[in-house]
This record gives sequence, structure tokens and C-alpha cells, in this order.
Amino acid sequence: MSKYRIAWLPGDGIGKEVMAAARLVLEGVGLEAEYLPGDIGWEFWQNEGDALPERTLDLLKNVDAAMFGAITSKPAKAAAAELAPALQGTGLVYRSPIVRMRQLLDLYTCLRPCKSYAGNPLNFKEEIDLVIFRENTEDLYSGVEFNPVPPELADLLEKISPPFSAFKDLPGDEYAISCKINTRKGSVGILRAAFEFARENKRKKVTVVHKANVVRATDGLFLEEAGEIAKEYPDIPMDSANIDAICMWLQKNPHNYDVLVAPNLYGDIISDLAAQMVGGLGFGCSGNIGREMAVFEPTHGSAPKYDGLWKVNPIATILAAKMMLDWLGEEDMGNRLEEAVAAVIMEGRVRTYDMGGQATTLQMAEAIGEKVRAS
Ligand code: NAI
Ligand code: MG
Repeated sequence: MSKYRIAWLPGDGIGKEVMAAARLVLEGVGLEAEYLPGDIGWEFWQNEGDALPERTLDLLKNVDAAMFGAITSKPAKAAAAELAPALQGTGLVYRSPIVRMRQLLDLYTCLRPCKSYAGNPLNFKEEIDLVIFRENTEDLYSGVEFNPVPPELADLLEKISPPFSAFKDLPGDEYAISCKINTRKGSVGILRAAFEFARENKRKKVTVVHKANVVRATDGLFLEEAGEIAKEYPDIPMDSANIDAICMWLQKNPHNYDVLVAPNLYGDIISDLAAQMVGGLGFGCSGNIGREMAVFEPTHGSAPKYDGLWKVNPIATILAAKMMLDWLGEEDMGNRLEEAVAAVIMEGRVRTYDMGGQATTLQMAEAIGEKVRAS
């Protein structure tokens, strides 16, 4: 019997290609694992009305960890129009399978390291080494949304929220409401994960990202909890920054930052920004981590324009596999894998199109796999 059971969810488009590449490298590093394929993505929405079928959730509940490629998703109306004829008009509503997976499995930490590997021609600056902790289940992603706004909600808001008077005379279909819901539990969970990581990895500080001067209720709560958690970690300096300011500071002085922690949407924004500073989406890897389960993925999507061309960069997914190895406690393998990636980047002989080269997805994976087997 294999040591680990890993759910394997390639998804759509280039998700399938980068996952094939990551598999090659995982086999090279010698992980004793059984890979169990799972269904997720657009074709399951179209044919079954569910982009994350129940059987996939069952699979995810019975494995040690999962790797996920990428999916295609579309706004609700466009999604409904693409349902199979038999499912049309049945009232099915598209919801992101990724957001659902994170919520249903309580994968409350989204961990996104962004490191500039020496020799990568795409580095914005050298020696960037940021680790972003993004809250992963609530905030503006709560899914509590209204478009149109029902009159009973408008009536209530008019009674209890003075600023709502600016909107009260609008017909319900002339505006929309998305609820930003942040709990103390969710905030504490992600803040503690960031501080624990900083302590374990001897990082120099934790920066809390927010907009509490404007978004007072929710971001105020997040910042307040940050202050409390920081008291438990007197060895780790903490500072804070507004989401807009941090986008500027990260570009100007990336070396002043180390671990960053943020509510869901701000975390999403700064992780794309940070990923671009170390080479773009071909390098952005991510772990969705809960108490007992974790799902690792590249941060990019299914990139339809490159689907089937086998030319995208698999490094993001390969680095996600490295994160999985670390999380499983196989740090030796994780380090070997990262060293192999770093060596291939440094040599610069094998580069995908985004790095200015011509190598295919699988040629990049083979180059990394060769190094890892030799290590
Ligand atoms: P995308 O991330 O799929 O691609 C945007 C662009 O980034 C690509 O056209 C390409 O130029 C570049 N890129 C992405 N991955 C790359 C790689 N591995 N190597 C080199 N370059 C790469 O975002 P897009 O085009 O906005 O969305 C396409 C679909 O993916 C949509 O349906 C979207 O909803 C979905 N999506 C899914 C995500 C996920 O599964 N986690 C995340 C983001 C988008
Ligand atoms: Mg994103």
C-alpha cells in the first residue's frame, strides 16, 4: 500500500497540462502515493449542473491531500446559458467550485509564497521572498449577495443603517449588495496561522493588510484581532498597512516585507501582485489549508487561449507540489524539488514561452524531474 492517498483534480484547459507536468516531477522525487482522479470543472457544470460533484467531495474527505489544476468559470447568467439542454430552466445556479471546496472543507488558510529565483528573467527585483496568508472562506466571498435587492432587506437597512438613506429610493434592480462577512474565528484562524509560520520559519515580521479607516466594521475587527494575536507572539514584530498603500510599497520596497496576512479579497489582490513580481502566473503557487486537509494548486486559471498547446509554464504547479510535500511532512523531498526548480531556472537552458524560451510544458517538467531524480 502507498504511504499517501492524493486526490488528483486536473480540472479544465491548461489545468490538465500543468498537472501532467507536476505528476512527472512528483514521480521523479519518489513520493510513495496513490493518485486518485477527481472530477471538477466546466463539463460537470454543463452536463450535471454541478462543477464540484458530490463524489468529488467524498473523495476529498478520504485522502491525505489533494492537487488541483484550474477550472474555467463564468458569471451566473453565462453559466446558466451553457447548461446541457435537459438542465436548462431547472433553476440551477452556478457557484465557483473552488470557493465551495474551500468553504465545505474549511480550508481557511490560503498560503501563497512568492520568491524570486535567481536567474529568472521575469523577476521584478531579485531576492524577493514574500509569504502571503489569505483568509479563504469568508469576507466578500461569503456568497451572501443580492441582485436585485429584496424590498424586505431595503426596509430593514433603512431602519438600522443611516448611510443607507443614500440608496433607499432606488428600485431593487438598480443596485446590488454583496456582504463582506468577517468572523472573529475566521480572522483569528488566519492571523494565528501567519504568526505561527513566522515563528517556525524565523521570519522577520508579519504585516497585516486592511482598510480599517474606511471599512470600519469588518476590517476594524480584523485589525483588532491582529493586535490581540500579536501579543501572543512578542518575538515577531507586527506592522500594518492599507490595501492600497501596500500595493505601492510592495513594488517600491519589496524587501521590507516578509509575511503578509489579509482578509480574503485583499489577500487575493496582493497575491497576484506579488506573483507578478516574481515571474507572473507561471510561478504563483498556492495551498488551501485546513485543520486536517489541504488542497494545493497554481494560482492561475485555465487560460483557454493556451488550452491544448502544451506551452504554459508548469513551475507554479510544481511549486504547489513542493508545498504539498512540506505539508505532508516530507520536507526532504520538498527541498529537493525546490532545489531542482531553482537549478533549472538558474541554468536558463529550458524556458517556457513566458520566460522567453520555447520549451514545452512537459520539457520543463522533464528538466526539473531529471534534476530531482539525480538529487
Ligand atoms: P488565467 O489565469 O487562466 O490566464 C491569464 C493569462 O495568464 C493567460 O492568458 C496567460 O497569458 C497567463 N498564464 C496563466 N497561466 C500561465 C502559466 N502556467 N504559464 C504561463 N502563462 C500563464 O486567467 P483568465 O484568462 O482570466 O481566466 C481563464 C479562466 O480561468 C476563466 O474561466 C476564469 O474564471 C478561470 N480562473 C480559474 C482559476 C482557478 O481555477 N483557480 C483562477 C483564475 C481564473
Ligand atoms: Mg486570484
